[in-house]
Amino acid sequence: MKIKKAVFPAAGFGTRFLPATKAIPKEMLPLVDKPLIQYGVEEAKSSGLSEIIIVTGMGKTAIEDHFDTSFELEKLLQERGKTELLRMIENVSGMVHFAYTRQKKPLGLGHAIGITRNLINNEPFAVFLGDDIIDSEVPVMRQMMEVHKRFGTTVLAVQKVPKSQAHLYGVIKGQKIGDGIYRVLDLVEKPQSNPPSNLAIIGRYILSPGIFNALEETKPGKGGEIQLTDALRILLRTQEIYALEFEGTRYDAGDKLGFLKANVSLALKRPELRAEFRKFLKDLKI
Ligand code: G1P
Repeated sequence: MKIKKAVFPAAGFGTRFLPATKAIPKEMLPLVDKPLIQYGVEEAKSSGLSEIIIVTGMGKTAIEDHFDTSFELEKLLQERGKTELLRMIENVSGMVHFAYTRQKKPLGLGHAIGITRNLINNEPFAVFLGDDIIDSEVPVMRQMMEVHKRFGTTVLAVQKVPKSQAHLYGVIKGQKIGDGIYRVLDLVEKPQSNPPSNLAIIGRYILSPGIFNALEETKPGKGGEIQLTDALRILLRTQEIYALEFEGTRYDAGDKLGFLKANVSLALKRPELRAEFRKFLKDLKI
């Protein structure tokens, strides 16, 4: 079944970036010149997804404004002959179809996915965690869709991490069945000790609609929140789950250091910035 919809949970408070995120959603922090969430939306679009469902909460209206048309701004750019900027702005608002739903209480990632049930219906769908910025030749979601085409069931993005970092992630126990592809045997959210492997779940998922019933059964887990990983564990009792060790460089832009690294390396890829920025970094002599 073709995947059309992508869910972007974006209701979190962004406490790791306070005070910057006091009045601005974390998803709107700029990486070079685009807000974080736009990278994920562009990845979704270039993977062939056409409907974006953003789960928002209090204080997140800037996200809706960003993906909306801005008549006044577009008119002004047109009058001033700024055609390139105009095209850029039109590209953002005309990207794909957007729908918004609100998570009224911060009950966790699993809960945020659960409330999209009526918008998804009975079809497989993609999930993007906007903090995970992935720079890759082939969009990661497209890489995952190939795996989904083959197995027709849930696919998780995974990456090897040092075992000392495993407590920050959902971690799978997998059986390798091919090039970067694993059959998931078990998974655990943020193991405090003895992680089942060094394969950490990164914020891209293709979920079978069976996840919604699993989520309904899921009890609060780590941090008292409804965890998606726990729901996947329930789903695993009745359906196969696969994991793909994707090709690409991932930045945890939800973390200050990861955010800085993403800014530097993405800026170095911009033709209009590269030469001068590179020179600046070299001159720092650190
Ligand atoms: C979430 C998931 C976790 C996953 C991580 C990837 O955690 O719960 O399983 O490994 O995203 O970024 P968070 O980082 O939101 O605490």
